[in-house]
Amino acid sequence: MNIALIGSGGREHAICQKLIESSLLTKVYCIPGNAGTSLIAKNLNFNFLNFKKLYAAIKFYKIELVVVGPEVPLVNGIVDFLQKNKIKVFGPNKDGAKLEFSKSWAKEFMQDANIPTANFWKVNSLEEAKKIINSSSIPLVVKADGLASGKGVFIPNSKDECFKAAESIFNGRFGNSGNVVVLEEKIQGPEVSVFALCDGKRYTLLPTAQDHKRLNEKDKGPNTGGMGAYSPAPLLTEDYLYRIIKEIIEPTINELNKRDIDYRGVIYFGLMITESGPKVIEYNCRFGDPECELIMPMYDGNIIDVFFEVAESRLNKNTVKWKNQKGVCVAVCSGGYPEKYQSGFEINGLEQIDNEVICFHSGTKISDDKLLTNGGRVLVLSTLGESIYYSREKVYKELKKVSFTNSFYRKDIALRAIENE
Ligand code: AMP
Ligand code: GLY
Repeated sequence: MNIALIGSGGREHAICQKLIESSLLTKVYCIPGNAGTSLIAKNLNFNFLNFKKLYAAIKFYKIELVVVGPEVPLVNGIVDFLQKNKIKVFGPNKDGAKLEFSKSWAKEFMQDANIPTANFWKVNSLEEAKKIINSSSIPLVVKADGLASGKGVFIPNSKDECFKAAESIFNGRFGNSGNVVVLEEKIQGPEVSVFALCDGKRYTLLPTAQDHKRLNEKDKGPNTGGMGAYSPAPLLTEDYLYRIIKEIIEPTINELNKRDIDYRGVIYFGLMITESGPKVIEYNCRFGDPECELIMPMYDGNIIDVFFEVAESRLNKNTVKWKNQKGVCVAVCSGGYPEKYQSGFEINGLEQIDNEVICFHSGTKISDDKLLTNGGRVLVLSTLGESIYYSREKVYKELKKVSFTNSFYRKDIALRAIENE
């Protein structure tokens, strides 16, 4: 059986690796993939938003299932297009992807379903924003409504910074994604990621995780796509997870059903554990990256079965099995990320990495038989073990072997987890 995998990051390399371990598979076609996927699958280098071309490739390569990694094709209706053309696909349709691509829509969705989240104001102009900021007695967070590659959220320290953030969004910093601004009550607490696989009716949970979004050690500096993660999240006890299921997960699935949204894919719940309980910070309509680089290795079985069950709306919770292990992953980045950085540097040392640690490629390419950097996050090293402590030790030992010009990685990934282990 042939499968197409859309995307080019570490998340897709991790999904690809799991797919090729499946006995049911003939070939994976990655569109466009990266250097890592080219070593284990076939990359097709064209723009996945060109649906006509995509359809032709699906027919030519006799592809039976399409798995969509990133949010951009989902938001652009890739699933709606494929379903209309009777092609099986893992991922939510455009209506479902709204959970991620419109923060104001997601907030109203949560409000309607009584799902705990920070109070918010949806504003359509700077004037309106100014009024709310001026009259607010609580600290606010400022967000561009639409997709902004993880850069659309501002955590200001003063009213003046609030105005400036709202102004920069309305002035077009994020294009149309900033036509609407969401002002939110600033809430506090540790953040956790909970993932559900949903087939439109049923759901099952994936291992929980916590990522480190900030660039610098001690969780300081600007937000990034994610500098590293660990799984499961130690602070989510069974009881607390049950509370999250009852207050957040099930109300979300019920509200999707109530709105006739046939959601077939991953729902990523970005949560904050506040003093008054769990609250939703954001929804994403896809696997997290780098969290996926832990979750895929943790899967114990043929992942293809699960993707098909979700795509065909016949999810069987008994199919979905996880290894009882704990993992840590760390991203190795190009100097300058998440702002400007240079690419094209040769990557060395990967052949020396112990095979208990998997090296997933994020931004890489092969040129003249050399492996080169080709993105902000370049590699993600990931491992599983009996404890987060042990996994962390293993990953950091192997990270020392990897080198390229201006490379860097955070040295404190998962430290906060092992303090409580
Ligand atoms: P988002 O892209 O919505 O996940 O936001 C990025 C990051 O901003 C989150 O991971 C939080 O650390 C922070 N954040 C977002 N919303 C709030 C909020 N209402 N209060 C405090 N921090 C927030
Ligand atoms: N790791 C955060 C994200 O995938 O959005």
